[in-house]
Amino acid sequence: MPKISNKGLEMPESPIRKLVPFAEEATRKGRKIYQLNIGQPDIKTPQGALDAVKNHDIEVLSYSHSAGFESYREKLAGYYQKSSLPVNKEDIIITTGGSEALLFTMGSITDPGDEVIIPEPFYANYNGFATASGVSIKPIQASIDDGFALPPIAEFEKLITEKTKAILICNPGNPTGYLYTKEEVQQLADLALKHDLFIVSDEVYREFAYDGVKHHSIMSIPELAENAIMVDSVSKRYSMCGARVGCLVSKNKEVMATAMKFAQARLSPPTFAQIASEAALETPQEYFDEVIEQYTYRRDLLVDGLEKIEGVKVAKPKGAFYCIAELPVEDADDFARWLLESFEDNNETIMVAPAAGFYSTPNTGKNQVRIAYVLKKENLERAIKILDKALKQYKQQN
Ligand SMILES: Cc1ncc(COP(=O)(O)O)c(C=O)c1O
Repeated sequence: MPKISNKGLEMPESPIRKLVPFAEEATRKGRKIYQLNIGQPDIKTPQGALDAVKNHDIEVLSYSHSAGFESYREKLAGYYQKSSLPVNKEDIIITTGGSEALLFTMGSITDPGDEVIIPEPFYANYNGFATASGVSIKPIQASIDDGFALPPIAEFEKLITEKTKAILICNPGNPTGYLYTKEEVQQLADLALKHDLFIVSDEVYREFAYDGVKHHSIMSIPELAENAIMVDSVSKRYSMCGARVGCLVSKNKEVMATAMKFAQARLSPPTFAQIASEAALETPQEYFDEVIEQYTYRRDLLVDGLEKIEGVKVAKPKGAFYCIAELPVEDADDFARWLLESFEDNNETIMVAPAAGFYSTPNTGKNQVRIAYVLKKENLERAIKILDKALKQYKQQN
């Protein structure tokens, strides 16, 4: 049989999805599963976005411009300008999700063998995008004890070699929920300027900042114009994960011209989804105010609940809708599988994402899980109770 590529063999499985077959089996047995493992919000998509697709008058569903609709890019630039970010339509390429923006970014700024420094734990699919691009990730460990704040800049500096092309951050963080302070973003910017590196900032959760704390975008630092690349998406902002629309944003003309060649190769982002995304920009502020209130409430409910369970340690998230919890187990991978295969309480169980897949340092985060607080109050309360019971039972059996 012809051989699969080494790259293909090295491509990591998604730690978020690898438990799916066990969940399917549990569902077949009639078990109800509370899904704390994925970032699929249950918040309603803005009606205006859905109506725009229903009420279109398209007769030919054609390709769009490779950079995306001009009208959409113009309005999207306006959205960033409202947050005082100096973004114009020519600084934006619309992509098929933030995922494609990350792939275009890797493709545009790295060669096989190059290195990208990323604070860990990080969004697990960065591993996949790096493998697909032949890039080596140099992780730098953030700690649950300080809520996953930016590790000291001296630690980053130690990892910089002539192969280092970029530092990649996720702000607010998935899976940590950490929101970088203005000082931390500035420190990274200074480092990038000193060593002539790119800073790639994944800001797909940029609207999800709690407790009145402001989000600081990488695009807000004028001196960093040539070094900054922002990745964004409509998936979480408008609860439109299935639209598959995101964007790559940079003031660096060479980066944009290069990314544009990748964009041309795949022709265009999806047309209907751009119609929905453009309409979503009209979403009133009250929608976000309600969503933020809802997530703040859920976060507090989850963190308070977790803190009451013996042996559980949790870093209170300041943004996004995830947290990392340290559990009194040795191997969270085994525990997560056991929850689906062998545990039930009133025929119900929970699904969590083992956190080891969010680290690239081997044997790290083995007793941690990522929990997404994307469930309604009653379901979240029930899920926390199930976790408490399951931990007790698991401990007795092991
Ligand atoms: C941090 C982060 N970046 C990027 C993405 C990709 O999102 P999408 O391709 O749906 O825009 C996700 C999705 O969960 C994410 O959590």
